Formats: sequence, structure tokens, C-alpha cells
Amino acid sequence: MKEQESFLKEKIDFKSPNRNIVPITTSIGRDGKLFVGGCSIEELVKKYDSPLYILDEKTLRSSCRAYKLALEKYYPGKSLPIYASKANSSIFMSNLVSSEGLGLDAVSEGELLTALKGGVQNEKIVFHGNNKSDKEIEFAVRNNINVIVDNDYDLERLDELSNRFSRDLEIMIRFTPGIECHTHEYIRTGSFDSKFGFGIEYLNTLFAKISNTKHLKLKGIHAHIGSQIFELEPHKDLGEIMANVILEAKKFGHEIKKLNVGGGLGIKYTENDDPPSIDEWVKTIATSVVKACRKHNLDLPKLMCEPGRSIVSTAGITIYKIGAFKEIPGIRTYLSVDGGMSDNPRPITYQSNYSACLVSNPFNTNSKNKYTIAGKHCESGDVLFKEIELADCKTGDLICVFGTGAYNYSMSSNYNRIPRPAALLVSDGEAEIIQKRESPLDLLKYDVLPDRFIKQN
Ligand code: LLP
Repeated sequence: MKEQESFLKEKIDFKSPNRNIVPITTSIGRDGKLFVGGCSIEELVKKYDSPLYILDEKTLRSSCRAYKLALEKYYPGKSLPIYASKANSSIFMSNLVSSEGLGLDAVSEGELLTALKGGVQNEKIVFHGNNKSDKEIEFAVRNNINVIVDNDYDLERLDELSNRFSRDLEIMIRFTPGIECHTHEYIRTGSFDSKFGFGIEYLNTLFAKISNTKHLKLKGIHAHIGSQIFELEPHKDLGEIMANVILEAKKFGHEIKKLNVGGGLGIKYTENDDPPSIDEWVKTIATSVVKACRKHNLDLPKLMCEPGRSIVSTAGITIYKIGAFKEIPGIRTYLSVDGGMSDNPRPITYQSNYSACLVSNPFNTNSKNKYTIAGKHCESGDVLFKEIELADCKTGDLICVFGTGAYNYSMSSNYNRIPRPAALLVSDGEAEIIQKRESPLDLLKYDVLPDRFIKQN
């Protein structure tokens, strides 16, 4: 029981939200129930129903500011933090990060459009992807969005477009630095065996190819080593590797002016997680880049990084309502909730762990109950918690799962034709809808019954 209690009582790190399990505005109301952003979670569910995604504005802004501040401190005047919108892409998120002065990383036409609609300036958007479509590449070029070249296919099409438009195009390239780090293998991207980016051994061939184009100007390099990383060591090594790439590029006449080190900083999902702070992470990277550039007598390039999870994850919670109980004597008690793998596919995909509490009894007082929390989908593996201790609870009670701001909504599905939950923004006791709840009818919108089948019936 101690574990459940401590994550609400722990001292909150307001400067680096990724080091907390709960949003920084989490509190307990006079009624002993859970509040976030000054709002009673119970009241929000009465009004907006469940399941419900909730984002806390103060936590979001505090995370954005932590990156800005740290970059200014350790790499003054020459940096840009870029929000990796794959973590949670919406018009609201695009607008928020842009209002905090961040850029945005997009990987599809959908994410690009969302960024532009949210007001992100074109020149602050970077466009990634290992298989961009012709349409997407042309869209990015026409809109002056920075394209990160991932492979030769990207390069050929950018060459063709720049010739067609008779226009110089500044490009960045992504390469795999060959750095190993400890994270789930699906979310590790910087090692040699990765579908992303150019192998480091291929770079000289690539530099020569770019030199032979008429309009492509290589201005930046990018590497991303993985996600949910707690170690600082891999990022310490990145500076020297990148400086060496800059030196090699120079031999082919390319002046690298931008260096993008990707994202990857982990967050605290459970008591066992101890990620470094945003300040420590930025300091490690900035120091390693400065040191390597000094050593090799290079001008300091503009430093960019692309945090996703550590901007939005801790700001997010998901509220579920408890439905059925099933006790299997001597084995376990299943408690089923009204959502699951369609709104949070991470447990079934990566065996991810989360923390949770009862909204009506956040400290789980008087409890000794162990539950398995199951989702409502037709899939045995649809289990959000294999085992969790909760206070006495019953059908109709609410459960709050913490740390769901990143890669939940953005990876959600309509499996079993389950509509996506609504998403709210909370701040200073006010709640606003940022994403409407889908309805089962919405899900029929794209179904088509060919005429001859209609006639048959
Ligand atoms: N930049 C690039 C090029 C990336 O590929 C990623 C994440 C990021 C930045 C942001 O990384 P972050 O700061 O969020 O760690 N679906 C997985 C995570 C996949 C991450 C993919 N790339 C999950 O739910 O854990």
C-alpha cells in the first residue's frame, strides 16, 4: 500500500514535471477526493462522462519552459526545442507549444496540417519519416517546412522538386549514431539496425551525392537514439559523434549549421522510475556539444532537440469508471473499466507500467485489495494493470491513471468500434474541451455499402 500512497504525497518537482508521477497541480479536495488543475475529477466525469483524457495546462507549460530555460542556460542564444508531436498531436497541443516558443516535429501530412492549424510557424516545423509520400514531401517543400532526409529516396525526390521549382532547398539528414541504450527494443532507434536514417558508414557517399545536386544545401544533421531513456551517458557520447560528422561533411564543402539531437528523455511512470531532470538532460547534451566543437575548432551550430514524452506525458491523466468485477478464488480479482487498449495501447504493446488511484480515495486508505484492471475489449491481453493495490471499491467508482499524456491518444484506435474519449484541458479550476468525444455513429462515417448490396436487401 505504501507505494500507492507515496506517489501522491511525494514532493512535487515543479521545474521538471517528468520527475513526478502526477501533474504538478494535483491536490486533494476538502472532500478527500482527487483534484487536478483545480478541478474536481468527479465533477468533470459527471459533466463530460468517462473514459476521459485530461491535460493539465500548468504541467505542460512548465515542461516547455524547462527546456527553453535550460537551453538558454547551457547553450545561450542558439537553440530551439522542438515538440515531437507524435506524442500527442492536436490543434491545441500545436498551439500551446508554439505559444511557448517551441518548434514542432511532424511525421505525416496529418501532423503537418495539425501543426499549421495550431499556429506553429512553418520555419519552426521539421518533417521526419522513413517513407514520406510524394504528396507529403511536396506539401512540406511548398510550405517551407524543413525536411529531414531519412534515405536516398527522400533525397532523389527533393533533388527533383528543387530542380522543378528552380529553387535552393536547405536540408538536414538523419543518421544512426550506433548508440545503444536501455529501453524497450521497439522504441530504440539509434542503434545500427534501425529502419530510420542513414548508416554512419554511408555518410561520405551521401555527402558526395548531395554535393552533386544543383539546389540541395546540406545545413543540418539529426540523430535520435530512443525513447523513455533514463541514462545520460548515451547523450554524452552524441556530441563527439556529431562533431565528427560535421568535420566529415566539411571535407565535401557542406557547412553544418544545425544540430538536432532528437528526444528521448524518460518520465516517471511508477515509483521505480528515476529519470534525470530536463535541466540535467539538456546540460549533458549542451556540454557535450560545446566540448566536442571546441576540441575540433568548430563554430557552435544551432542546437535543436525534440522532446515528446517529457513535454506531455505527466500532464495527462485518464479517468475510467469501474464496471464488472470477477473474482477467481485463490487466483485474482478482475476489475473491468470502460476503456482499455483502444485508448491506451501501451500496456499491451510494450508491457508498460503506470500508477493509478481511486478518485474518491486517492491515498487508498483502509485498503488491502489487489486487483487486475482489465479493459473492455475482446482481447485477453487487454489488461491495464496486472496487479494493483486499491482501496475498497465498487462498480461506478472512478480510477485515475497517471502519466497518460504521451502516446495514448496519439496511438489510440477504435478496436471493437469503441469511440475515442473526449480530452479536456484543466487550469485554475476551469475545464475546456480540446477534443470532442467520438460517438459510435461517428465511426460509421467512412463505411460504404456498395449499391448492389443495398438493392439485395
Ligand atoms: N524525435 C524523433 C525523430 C523520434 O522518433 C521520437 C520518438 C522523438 C523525437 C520523441 O521522443 P520522446 O521524447 O517522446 O521519447 N510509442 C512509443 C514511443 C515511440 C517514440 C518514437 N519516436 C511509446 O509509447 O513509448
